[in-house]
Amino acid sequence: MKNKYLEEALRELVNGHAKKRHPFRYFVLATTENGRPTQRTVVLRKTLKDQSLVIYTDKRTQKIKQLQKSSHFSALFYDTKKLLQIRIEGKAELITDTAQIETYWHTVQAASRKDYTTSLAPGTPIEKLDEIEYTTTENNFCPVKLVPHTIEYLRLQRPNHVRVLFSKIKDTWSGEFLVP
Ligand SMILES: Cc1cc2nc3c(=O)[nH]c(=O)nc-3n(C[C@H](O)[C@H](O)[C@H](O)COP(=O)(O)O)c2cc1C
Repeated sequence: MKNKYLEEALRELVNGHAKKRHPFRYFVLATTENGRPTQRTVVLRKTLKDQSLVIYTDKRTQKIKQLQKSSHFSALFYDTKKLLQIRIEGKAELITDTAQIETYWHTVQAASRKDYTTSLAPGTPIEKLDEIEYTTTENNFCPVKLVPHTIEYLRLQRPNHVRVLFSKIKDTWSGEFLVP
């Protein structure tokens, strides 16, 4: 009974990167900075077989610094048409294996590769927009794996909203209904 909600959530998380213009393509990723929450929009690049979510970023960004100090994350997906919210919590792992980084790098479109090659680190203050320079010698591409520990499904609907919290214990998901 509860499994159909988990299956729906996981299906949508795959569609998020597999289907064009799917509402889960972009999601909000929250991390913490000295115990304070901080969020940003990111692109869902891949949902792996173990339900981990892969994102790409620049290794010099604040999110990477924050995740190195505390790997806890929260991710929020929302489908406006279905009134479906998926909230995921877990721990992030920076991908450091060079072969894996290379495989992911090959999926980045040529026009987007420069996003990972700014001479100055992302977030550095500049006087003018045309001050942005790119290097051709190296990149700061950093794929990150977001490993989920909980997935919370919430769908607003009549007559009753549906809220289910799934927790992963020893590779198995178990779910419980919650008051919406
Ligand atoms: C539509 C959209 C998609 C974005 N996708 C990504 C992304 O996939 N990876 C990323 O690092 N930043 C992405 N960003 C930029 C982040 O929201 C953020 O501004 C940047 O990564 C710096 O965040 P940080 O300083 O908290 O690390 C995106 C922004 C927008 C508006």
